[in-house]
Amino acid sequence: MQPTGEWLSPSPTLRIDDLSAEERAVYATLRPDRLPQHVAIIMDGNGRWAGRRSLKRFVGHQQGAKAVQQVTETAARIGLPWLTLYAFSLENNLRRPRAEVSFLMRLLKTYLDGHLQRMLANNIRMRYIGRTRDLPHDVQEKMREVEEATARNTGTTLTLALNYGARSELVDAFRGLAAEIKHKHLSAEHITEADIHRHLYTAQMPDPDLLIRTSGELRISNFLLWQIAYTEIFVTERYWPDFRGIHLLEAIADFQRRERRYGGIGEDGGEVEEDPDRIRIAVS
Ligand code: FPP
Repeated sequence: MQPTGEWLSPSPTLRIDDLSAEERAVYATLRPDRLPQHVAIIMDGNGRWAGRRSLKRFVGHQQGAKAVQQVTETAARIGLPWLTLYAFSLENNLRRPRAEVSFLMRLLKTYLDGHLQRMLANNIRMRYIGRTRDLPHDVQEKMREVEEATARNTGTTLTLALNYGARSELVDAFRGLAAEIKHKHLSAEHITEADIHRHLYTAQMPDPDLLIRTSGELRISNFLLWQIAYTEIFVTERYWPDFRGIHLLEAIADFQRRERRYGGIGEDGGEVEEDPDRIRIAVS
């Protein structure tokens, strides 16, 4: 759903006492002043989780929905401003059996319906990105209802990517930009990165600092391609239905041990030459 008005920047309050004892132990190792602002997650492995237990795939999705709530509540307790979950891709919509797609839609609607009170209790604001206009109307209606009911919450913004594909997001952004350029009689040479950013579904949120992928696959799967240019990536073998708040905290601990350079030079990168013109370049 394209954002309409201004999105307030979330200002979550910490509720560390509400973490479990195990979560608190990991949280104690973190530097709260260096928490990521935005964590994005590719939730993968529901089907394999079920297969390992000789269960039907839909059971894996059901357990996956429980994991969504648990991870989101931990994110809210530690004051994570932005959490974005890849819940349903355009490719899932086109390539999965119709019965599975319609189950996922029912699960989403039931999830939104059943968790609104918990979202409100946890001060969570709900948003969506993707071509959500192509989802079933009853699902869209429920989505709108929950978005509106949580719009004034000031804690974690939970964004669900639904019927989402990063390439189609870019197509939509370029179409929007082209229309703007035509309307304002601007010239294409003046297009900047900021102009493209303004037309993305994620225009009002910061780029993710950390991208987590569960189930061990080393792929981006058409998720937030523009936005993850400098994002740190964390892959865990764990299947999504087994992922919990404590694993989010462990991924954040790993993130905090990394040095982000954005194409610059790191602290251990050696000395900077004062006068590089004096150095002879030998090519052998
Ligand atoms: C990947 O598992 C996961 C999905 C298709 C989407 C994620 C869906 C959920 C977590 C459930 C519902 C979500 C909400 C927000 C209520 P997979 O089926 O691709 O697993 P596999 O690769 O092992 O087959």
